[in-house]
Amino acid sequence: MQATAIAHPNIALIKYWGKRDVPLNLPAVPSLSVTLDTFTTTTTVEWGAPADRLEVNDQPQAGRPAERVFRFLDLVSSDRPPCVVRSKNNFPTAAGLASSASAFAALALAADRASGQQRSPQQLSVLSRRGSGSACRSLWGGWVLWQRGAREDGTDSHGEPLFAPDHWDVRVIIALVSAAKKPIGSTAGMLLTQERSPLYPGWVSSADADIIQARQAIARRDLQALGAAMERSTLKMHATMISAGIRYWKPETVAVMEQVEAMRAAGLGAWYTMDAGPNVKILCEAQDAAAITERLSAIGATTQILGVGGDARIV
Ligand code: PMV
Repeated sequence: MQATAIAHPNIALIKYWGKRDVPLNLPAVPSLSVTLDTFTTTTTVEWGAPADRLEVNDQPQAGRPAERVFRFLDLVSSDRPPCVVRSKNNFPTAAGLASSASAFAALALAADRASGQQRSPQQLSVLSRRGSGSACRSLWGGWVLWQRGAREDGTDSHGEPLFAPDHWDVRVIIALVSAAKKPIGSTAGMLLTQERSPLYPGWVSSADADIIQARQAIARRDLQALGAAMERSTLKMHATMISAGIRYWKPETVAVMEQVEAMRAAGLGAWYTMDAGPNVKILCEAQDAAAITERLSAIGATTQILGVGGDARIV
């Protein structure tokens, strides 16, 4: 049997960084994201083939990436047949643009249906979390919370849709600084941070307050309060990483941050966030997006304006 699913990446406003359980991908902190429109991963799973085979963007894959996908399919069904997986991203892969989030959300959904199962979105979220933590937020559109959970088996650590995409028509501007693959993956980066950063306990203990502020700000559509919580979360996460010797920022990353701060000082509502890569995402009201991209182009950043995207779905 065969099934094709589409999922959108999501950008964490309040970040996930750190694991309380590595094999199960259970987070040390709760996180909160917005799902993006326009960017998609489209994945087809053929359940039953002569041998396991993975193609990403039409290129056959071997080694670690293939192993990660086929081990994930073992979780979908422990006595599965060999499978063919074909996946395409319409945006740069593994450059801190959340390609693993949409990848594992689309893979979980396509594999579940191709294998003749019917997991609920919540069960698919628990499953996709095993592939990549942030993937558990990409099952839903709009504004999504990922609870840390308390159970050891991780069944209570999954995404939870807070507000639908039409709750608030914001824009996320991607300022592309580099499309190169990141030098250190998120799992290795998190484990090094936990091991080496003296700031890590503070990062973990201060996360709940950021979630509360962000959630209330989204509920009342208060971009200034949301932007402030979002910047605080990203700065704390990167400060914690940097103190462990992991720096994803490039000089152009800081140039974009400075430009955003200057725009804000001039009365233009814009707030930044960065993930495990040098690219910057800027949150703003829909009517300000054009003016903001103009200012970013003037400093040489390549930009793309995205809106709020929808649920992962079978096509
Ligand atoms: O889901 P992972 O293992 O790719 O980790 C994602 C980590 C960040 O993107 C930096 C933050 C987040 O919450 O998405």
